[in-house]
Amino acid sequence: MRDYATRTAADLTVHLGDITLDGASDPGQLDSARAMCLPWPTPFRFLPGNHDVGDNPPSPEVPCKRPVEPSLLERFRSNFGPDYWTVFVEGWFIIGLNAQLFGSGIPSETEQWRWLEHCAARAGKHPVVLLLHKPLFQNTREDSIPHIRYVPLAPRGRLLRLLAPLDLRLVLSGHTHQYLDRMIEGVRHIWIPSTAFFLPDADQERVGEKVTGLGLLELSCEYFRFDLVCPDGLARNNFADQPFRKLLHN
Ligand SMILES: [Fe+2]
Repeated sequence: MRDYATRTAADLTVHLGDITLDGASDPGQLDSARAMCLPWPTPFRFLPGNHDVGDNPPSPEVPCKRPVEPSLLERFRSNFGPDYWTVFVEGWFIIGLNAQLFGSGIPSETEQWRWLEHCAARAGKHPVVLLLHKPLFQNTREDSIPHIRYVPLAPRGRLLRLLAPLDLRLVLSGHTHQYLDRMIEGVRHIWIPSTAFFLPDADQERVGEKVTGLGLLELSCEYFRFDLVCPDGLARNNFADQPFRKLLHN
C-alpha cells in the first residue's frame, strides 16, 4: 500500500479502521501497526475499527462482546491522532467519524456528537464525503434488525438528521471485507473491502463482492470519481488460509 500511495502521489491516505488484527486483546498491536506506517509518502488520517478500540452495541438490548475501551481509545489517539476529524479539499468537506462510539454511552460519544454539531454548521453548501468504519445500514436508513455490521438504528437516525441540511454526496465505509457500490436516496454508499483478506461464506454471509482492494477517490470542484483498485502486490487472500486465523478474537 505504501508503494501504491507513492506511485499515485495521492494527497491523502485514509485508513478506515481495523488497523490491527486484534488490538482489543493485545494493545501492543496499536503501537506496532503505527510503526509499520512509518514513514508514509502522503499525509495519513486514521479512523478506529472494532479490532482497534472495541465495539459498540448493535442496539440497547443487544450488547457487544467487547465494548469500546476508553484506555484503548487513548492509545489509538496517541498513535494515530484524532479518531474523528474533518478535511477541506478541492471545495469538498470530508468528515471522518468514529463509528465505534455510536451507542457506546461513554463520554467520548457525547463529545463526538457535540463536535459533529459544530462541524455540520461549518460545512455550509460544500459537497460532503462521510468516512467511517461501519456502513450506515444494509439496505435502507430504516433497517432495524440489530447487527454488528452497521451503525445502530438510534444513532444512525440522529446522524442522518444532523447531516440532512448538508449536501452529502458520498459515504465510504470499511469493516465488511466486501465491496458494494450503490446510490440510495441520492447518496452514493460504497463499502470498501479490506487490503488484507476476504472472509469465506462459511464465516460470513455474502452481501457484496468478496474481493480485496482499496479505494481511489478523486475530488475536483463539484465532482468525484471513485475506483476500486487492486494494485500489484495486493493478493486476494482468503481468511480461511491465514495462519493467524485462530488468534483472532472475533
Ligand atoms: Fe471492523
